[in-house]
Amino acid sequence: MREGLSRVEVIDELLLFIVAGCETTGTALAWFIYFMSKNPRVQAKIKAELGDNKQNRVSVEQIESLTYLDCVIQELFRFLPPVVGTTRTLTIDDQLPGSGIQLHKGDETFISFYNLARDKRCWKIDPDLFYPERFQGEDKDHHPYASIPFGGHRRCIGQDLARFELKAIIVKLMQHVTFGDGGDQVNAGGYIQKMTVIPKHIGVAITFD
Ligand code: HEM
Repeated sequence: MREGLSRVEVIDELLLFIVAGCETTGTALAWFIYFMSKNPRVQAKIKAELGDNKQNRVSVEQIESLTYLDCVIQELFRFLPPVVGTTRTLTIDDQLPGSGIQLHKGDETFISFYNLARDKRCWKIDPDLFYPERFQGEDKDHHPYASIPFGGHRRCIGQDLARFELKAIIVKLMQHVTFGDGGDQVNAGGYIQKMTVIPKHIGVAITFD
């Protein structure tokens, strides 16, 4: 019996990491910039949590202590999951609850993260609002499957890295710049749906603090 992975399998895994890891995290960052330009109140709170720390080196402990930023990132992933959903193949016959629609073993199902995260039954505060504070209060104990941007069972292997990368980049950005709304003509939002949900029209004003 062969032991370990072949050279080709190792290269395949590395390529998958790059494909699965780059566009997703880059897209999340682009949406962050867009939402900051549209939500100056949230941006100001992130900066207030950072205090006047403008040091070049920020420790892991400092990054981890930013709990409001955690809520912003959680809200970012809920409001616009970079990956729209995932698929699963049924291993048994089953029925959808409510509608009673019959599903068969072997059927391929699509689970939409976006629809779950916008389902009004799962949230106390209107899910169509971009409101990070929901995770500190009313929606703290939301249904565990209401927001699953990294998948459910057998979820993304890179989720902790992605969250940490994003947090570290956002800290550096928020230490030095403020994003402002570039106006409806250029900062209209919208999206293009490819492998990820990419923002379409982002035009922000950048002020160096
Ligand atoms: C914002 C960033 C990211 C998002 C939103 C994201 C999302 C996802 C989702 C939804 C899945 C499918 C999970 C499922 O079907 O249940 C997945 C799988 C995966 N992700 Fe991520 N991901 C991100 C970043 C990363 C990073 C940084 C890496 C690696 C360094 C990575 C590596 C992978 C791999 C290897 C898989 C498994 C693919 C497979 O099963 O064939 N992801 N990711």
